[in-house]
Amino acid sequence: MDSIRIVGGNRLKGEIPISGAKNATLPLMAASLLTPETLHLTNVPRLADIGTLIKVLEQHGVEASWEPGTLTLKAEDIPNTTAPYDLVRRMRASVLVLGPLIARFGNAVVSLPGGCAIGTRPVDLHLSGLEQLGARIDLGRGYIHATAPKGLKGAHIIFPKVSVGATENLVMAASLAKGETVLENAALEPEVEDLCHCLVAMGAKIEGIGTERLVIEGVAGLHGAKHSVVPDRIEAGTYGIAAAMTGGEVDLLGMRLDLFGAAAEALRHAGVELTETEKGVRAACGNGSLVGYDVMTDPFPGFPTDLQAQYMALMSVAKGAAMITETIFENRYMHVPELMRMGANINLHGSSAMVRGVDKLYGAEVMATDLRASSSLVVAALAADGETVINRVYHLDRGYEQLEQKLAACGAEVERIAEQRAA
Ligand code: EPZ
Repeated sequence: MDSIRIVGGNRLKGEIPISGAKNATLPLMAASLLTPETLHLTNVPRLADIGTLIKVLEQHGVEASWEPGTLTLKAEDIPNTTAPYDLVRRMRASVLVLGPLIARFGNAVVSLPGGCAIGTRPVDLHLSGLEQLGARIDLGRGYIHATAPKGLKGAHIIFPKVSVGATENLVMAASLAKGETVLENAALEPEVEDLCHCLVAMGAKIEGIGTERLVIEGVAGLHGAKHSVVPDRIEAGTYGIAAAMTGGEVDLLGMRLDLFGAAAEALRHAGVELTETEKGVRAACGNGSLVGYDVMTDPFPGFPTDLQAQYMALMSVAKGAAMITETIFENRYMHVPELMRMGANINLHGSSAMVRGVDKLYGAEVMATDLRASSSLVVAALAADGETVINRVYHLDRGYEQLEQKLAACGAEVERIAEQRAA
């Protein structure tokens, strides 16, 4: 397994092109199953997760072709509506094929995704929503068996809690259901909005895009479309935090301030300067210093859980203290012991972490445990005194395109160390 070696202390200065959002690309790819025509996606990041979902789609029968930044998908002939465990377990967002398959073909057998490092990640909201649309759902031997021989029928669904994936699965399924579907308490994440815009381009009838009440009038079929993926707000937030932590200034090319939601407010209170320019968003360490500011993660537009670990690294070198509370996932603090090995002063109390700022962090050999925890270690290493080696960087490859190249172009001392293959 590869590692990444970083020598901290260089101020990041320059430009970082922000890639298309991983968490928008994945549902958009699943949407290709809704039509026999071609879906052209542009601004697509080259990431491990995208590669895994291409494999899932290809084994269904989708023709996929990739050129840098562009993914073309054509689901004309789909002989297989089973998504197998060995692929779904590697990338749980594969469960997003469920809604499109059941809506277009009336049947689907999709492996239950299982949990992951950050939590049990149930899919009960996906399944209960599909049942309300008239699907029959049976669980057996680790698989979801979904059938709707007479097709799906519109329904009024109120989500008991906000779920990005459940909203995405159900808005895709409802697009081909007979009649009207109302989704209340729908997720507001920009990636959900991006999916809705693409579905409309494919011929879907969706009202209320960008609100928590989506009204979908089912249509008989969808056609192909061309769609550019929304910028990745989590990648942008990660690099904006890195710029501030190193006392630098970085232009996040292509980023939009509105995509940050409440995170912009919190970062500014913490001393990170964010300015919208014609190129994107400039992030810098303000003329003051970084100061502790409490955050609580929340569904969009609240502070994103996917930025919590990176924000904790920022708070660990801020003046004063900050209380960080994770409300979305039950086990998203695995970066804490690794940050503490670098000298951070963090106390966990249940779902809250009290972070007391220290003068500096020190490089160390650390372990990546999940995607966003690893990026927290990267930003900490960039600001730390000395050398850090981050092991198991395959976690990073799932969500950050050309991370070393983008950081090195802004003056970071960073290199990937390929694992020595046993002779
Ligand atoms: C999406 O996951 C993202 N992944 C996650 O990003 C992100 O952290 C999460 O949304 C929250 O913003 C993709 O978009 C591919 P949820 P998702 O359904 O859809 C519970 C990353 O680092 N829940 O909004 O799985 C769930 O356990 C990843 O890029 C149920 O109880 O998240 C969680 O506590 C990590 N039942 C909460 O809801 C369900 O049926 C929010 O989950 C579904 C979810």
